[in-house]
Amino acid sequence: MATVSLDNVSKSYGAAEVIDNLSLTIDDGAFTVFVGPSGCGKSTLLRMIAGLEPITSGSLLIDGAHMNDADPIERGVAMVFQNYALYPHMSVEQNIGFSLRMAGLSKQEIAERVALAAKTLQIEQLLKRKPSQLSGGQRQRVAIGRAIVRDPEVFLFDEPLSNLDAELRVSMRVEIAKLHSQLGSTMIYVTHDQTEAMTLADKIVVMRDGRIEQAGTPEELYENPDNQFVAGFIGSPRMNFISGREGDTSLTLGVRPEHFQLGRGDMNFTLTVDVVENLGGTRYLYGTTSDGDALVVEAREAAGIKARDVVEVSVPLQRVYKFQTDGQRVRQ
Ligand SMILES: Nc1ncnc2c1ncn2[C@@H]1O[C@H](COP(=O)(O)OP(=O)(O)OP(=O)(O)O)[C@@H](O)[C@H]1O
Ligand SMILES: [Mg+2]
Repeated sequence: MATVSLDNVSKSYGAAEVIDNLSLTIDDGAFTVFVGPSGCGKSTLLRMIAGLEPITSGSLLIDGAHMNDADPIERGVAMVFQNYALYPHMSVEQNIGFSLRMAGLSKQEIAERVALAAKTLQIEQLLKRKPSQLSGGQRQRVAIGRAIVRDPEVFLFDEPLSNLDAELRVSMRVEIAKLHSQLGSTMIYVTHDQTEAMTLADKIVVMRDGRIEQAGTPEELYENPDNQFVAGFIGSPRMNFISGREGDTSLTLGVRPEHFQLGRGDMNFTLTVDVVENLGGTRYLYGTTSDGDALVVEAREAAGIKARDVVEVSVPLQRVYKFQTDGQRVRQ
């Protein structure tokens, strides 16, 4: 376990600055998720922590020790990649033990550590197989096993589940959460999937254009976003944004689909329903207001509503978020 601190870290490729003076503390034993749109710098930041990418300026500290120039091995980190990067000609057992053989550990110690990792990941029965004889989820476990045997202070995951189908992604997500509570290690996890971020993280770091937009617990970001970007990124389906006015000031109003009610209330909208999406347990109404704004409304009790119906929906005032034209939240 270890604390990871980034202190005014920047990264440039030539003239292009991809990480811009970023500071962040990752607590010992916490599960931290970097989330943000494609190209915002998530992998670059992770690779700088791993020692796979030089830091242009600023400091990286792991448990208080300056690590900018340390070899990946000295940092006590292990990284799991999206594409697994398993050696095709080696068995599962040899793949998992590879880094330990390179480090010159005894045969017995390697066997013990590989057996323990295989038990943790429930892949003991697969140890003699080659990667080509495994499913995607099993390969992903082997890739995680390679990280576990090194007993790292910090695990780094770069979109480890994005090659898996939707169902397997959900079950592997639960496996990773279990692994974290079992090992208690510091884990940093990169994804662009806000659901993965919400479900796995102790702390979510929302990034955009090489900067942190906001960092906090999933609840903080969902309930108390600092700006329109974070409000729109966290939550699914995403928050509705409606242009509004307060006195002579233009504002954007934000309402989450789940905060609408059918019928009249504090703030009212007449919605012409374009599409009803029935998910079984709940329904989403996709429609257009009389002012021409597109809205998504969650309506659990909307059994009779169908396309082309006109319905009254409302939202309690305390559920309405307000944003300035520059995207900053207006707090009451
Ligand atoms: N070796 C490189 N040389 C030049 N630019 C690079 C290099 N590697 C990454 N970049 C640029 O840095 C920016 C951040 O890339 P990065 O891979 O960190 O994004 P990301 O947030 O991980 O995106 P994704 O979700 O698509 O994986 C991008 O604009 C990318 O084009
Ligand atoms: Mg990436």
